[in-house]
Amino acid sequence: MAGQFGYVLHPVLEFAPDLAPFYAQQEIVDLLAEILQDEVRLAHSGAILCNETRRFCDWHCHLNGNQFNQWYPKPENHQGVDRLLCNVYLHGSNSATGELLVYPRKVTDPWEMPFDDPLIEWQGQKIITCPPGSAVIFDTALFHAARRPTETGHRYIWGGHYQGKSNLTNHREDNWFQSPFIEQYRKNNPLFASLTDVRIPSFS
Ligand SMILES: [Fe+2]
Repeated sequence: MAGQFGYVLHPVLEFAPDLAPFYAQQEIVDLLAEILQDEVRLAHSGAILCNETRRFCDWHCHLNGNQFNQWYPKPENHQGVDRLLCNVYLHGSNSATGELLVYPRKVTDPWEMPFDDPLIEWQGQKIITCPPGSAVIFDTALFHAARRPTETGHRYIWGGHYQGKSNLTNHREDNWFQSPFIEQYRKNNPLFASLTDVRIPSFS
């Protein structure tokens, strides 16, 4: 993440296990299942904590590859969604927090970056605004960035990556954290248990 003050917490369940039940939201999981056409598994948990000194967050996507913003070539005739990202914007997405920017494209479009410079705004981008507490869901192939905040204060975004349970392809960003707290949440919350019963180790 670009910026002066910013922490990326991966896996966030290690630092904040109390987030566990917040992943188990039936309405969200149902929507993810409909898009993935499969039962859903949580493949990655993460969060970002930053303040107003954060600079423009570079354009990037979360396709699979062995390095940041690098990915394996798009398979021929690939037209689906393999993996979804769902982030919760605790303070919303607006000019004060620095808006989320996305570069829309079809699932049938190539994966290549449409512009060379990841540090400037791109022609054709869309500005996403949402109120505090919003969950934003998108294909991990979607290029996204964020503007610099205009007001002081800390900002938190937390979320995860989701794949179908029958899609066992591992990903550079897969993560898991085992702890007694997490096991207790799994015992008490069947939906969280279902989201986390298939764990694929990252290949990196
Ligand atoms: Fe991202």
